[in-house]
Amino acid sequence: MTGFATDWLDLREPLDAVSRDPEIIETLIEWSRPHAALSVLDLGCGTGTNFRFLAPLLNEEQHWRLVDLDPDALACGEQRLRQWAAERTLSVRADAMALALESAERRYRLEPLRLDLAGDWEPLERSAAALVTASALLDLTSAVWLDRLARQCRAWRAAVYIALSYDGYIRWEPMLDRDDQVRERINRHQRTDKGFGPALGPDAPATLAIRLRELGYGVMLQPSPWRLGAEHDAMQTALLSGWSRVVRQLDPMATDWLSGWTAERQRLIDDRVSRLDVGHWDLLARLP
Ligand SMILES: C[S@@+](CC[C@H](N)C(=O)[O-])C[C@H]1O[C@@H](n2cnc3c(N)ncnc32)[C@H](O)[C@@H]1O
Repeated sequence: MTGFATDWLDLREPLDAVSRDPEIIETLIEWSRPHAALSVLDLGCGTGTNFRFLAPLLNEEQHWRLVDLDPDALACGEQRLRQWAAERTLSVRADAMALALESAERRYRLEPLRLDLAGDWEPLERSAAALVTASALLDLTSAVWLDRLARQCRAWRAAVYIALSYDGYIRWEPMLDRDDQVRERINRHQRTDKGFGPALGPDAPATLAIRLRELGYGVMLQPSPWRLGAEHDAMQTALLSGWSRVVRQLDPMATDWLSGWTAERQRLIDDRVSRLDVGHWDLLARLP
């Protein structure tokens, strides 16, 4: 794994679906209509969340290339996609290259590709995509990488839909004294290198928007926050434990107060009085 356990991706999938900005989705649907068969490139696809969300909304015929570095995520993704197809009574055919999911009305061809996106893009450059998409990926990447992404999208004349990029905003309720210190350390960790060079973290969506505008794109940027209530206790617990781990790694001196803060936060979650907002942005860019 590259650090994103598939049970974490499963947990966030339904919340991501309701958090995506609806105006951007509507615009994307309209943009897609004239394309007879839509070719989509999904970067850092994980188990295929982006496909499961978008496929029913877009064209009848779609060809997706699903790219990820993590073989476990791709393998787990195939299972999830087969299950998803069965729930929709789509037939499933597999060959060495791809999964074909079909019904009378819909035809999806899904080609998984194991690739380090921080390295050589040669396998991607061979065929153009009409739509380049990613979800929950951008904050890992660097300015240099985003520049390369923008230029490649421009060369293909592709539309770009990047969902759910974390923006640095975390707000717990009820508040506790140490919340700001924890958030500051999480956002410091956001800027450490995740394999793409110095990560932009919360600045990534705005940086990509600027770069795409410079290349002639019209860009929409809209908030897509997670709003977690008491019923999202599993998600809150997972975030709390991940963040505590990150703070401990980054600042071993924080151990004393961090244990107390984490225990108090967990108690509030268990008592079902904890709320948590986490900021994200969605981006859609199209050429005129
Ligand atoms: C937070 S997950 C998001 C997965 C999926 N897009 C979703 O929304 O559920 C980030 C994904 O990026 C992938 N990833 C991270 N670094 C990568 C790299 N250098 N090349 C390709 N994929 C990478 C991870 O393996 C992981 O599946």
